[in-house]
Amino acid sequence: MGSGVLIVALPRRRRLVARIPRGRGRQSTTALGHSQEVGRSDPAQATFYDRWFDSAWGHYAFEVERAALERAVGPLEGCRVLEVGCGTGRFTAAVEQHAGSVIGVDLDPAMLAIAARRVRAPLLVADAQHLPFDDATFDVTMAVTLCEFVTDPHLVVGELGRVTRPGGRIAIGALNARSAWGMARRRRLRRPPWQAAHFVTRQELVSFGRPLGRVTLHAALFAPGDLPGLDKVGPLLEGRERACPRFGAFQVLVVDKTGS
Ligand SMILES: C[S@@+](CC[C@H](N)C(=O)[O-])C[C@H]1O[C@@H](n2cnc3c(N)ncnc32)[C@H](O)[C@@H]1O
Repeated sequence: MGSGVLIVALPRRRRLVARIPRGRGRQSTTALGHSQEVGRSDPAQATFYDRWFDSAWGHYAFEVERAALERAVGPLEGCRVLEVGCGTGRFTAAVEQHAGSVIGVDLDPAMLAIAARRVRAPLLVADAQHLPFDDATFDVTMAVTLCEFVTDPHLVVGELGRVTRPGGRIAIGALNARSAWGMARRRRLRRPPWQAAHFVTRQELVSFGRPLGRVTLHAALFAPGDLPGLDKVGPLLEGRERACPRFGAFQVLVVDKTGS
């Protein structure tokens, strides 16, 4: 772990502690359409982001993505898990129910302040491109819709690989602009907050993981958006993974890390 320790919030009964390695804590990046630095974050924007999950489409998409991630990662019982770019902790909370232990990392203290109300996991403010952990610290590392918002996704996946033990697993969830969802939103994806995102292609995702071990790419979220009768149509569409994985809006790269 890095040596600098900064307490950024005191949620009910628990401390939210940010550990920032000296000289690295103020790296800037772009997320959710705005430039971020540690200490410069927007609670209103974090709340807006988090509330999206309570919309009908947000709720549906989250459940499909959570299930896809769980299937792709496999059993987490007893595992030490790191979630990077954990945001408001929606996925962290799901992982926490099964894993041995979880740590959440994000660059934005406002996102983590919301996560702190949702999870028991320790939450750290740190840059995914320079993680403050020793090599091979975790059994499983994961990141969901983070690669789209960092300057160098290759570096981020490399960092996840570094802190994952050999034989462990790295899972990267990423949105696919070339999916049915992406096509239906072509215009909207050019406006804030999406215009700041760099959507990685399926080929790019695979190329990030390959240097670290054996890669598998999964796909989910085949509905193009909030259709009438989504609760009935959605599960039928979710059967499309085998037939046309490239049209899934949520891609999950899993890397089984090799090496000793
Ligand atoms: C689209 S949100 C995803 C949040 C969460 N994983 C989810 O799916 O709800 C992207 C998150 O990545 C974080 N982020 C962006 N750049 C980062 C970086 N360099 N290091 C750590 N977190 C970063 C943002 O603060 C934001 O919380």
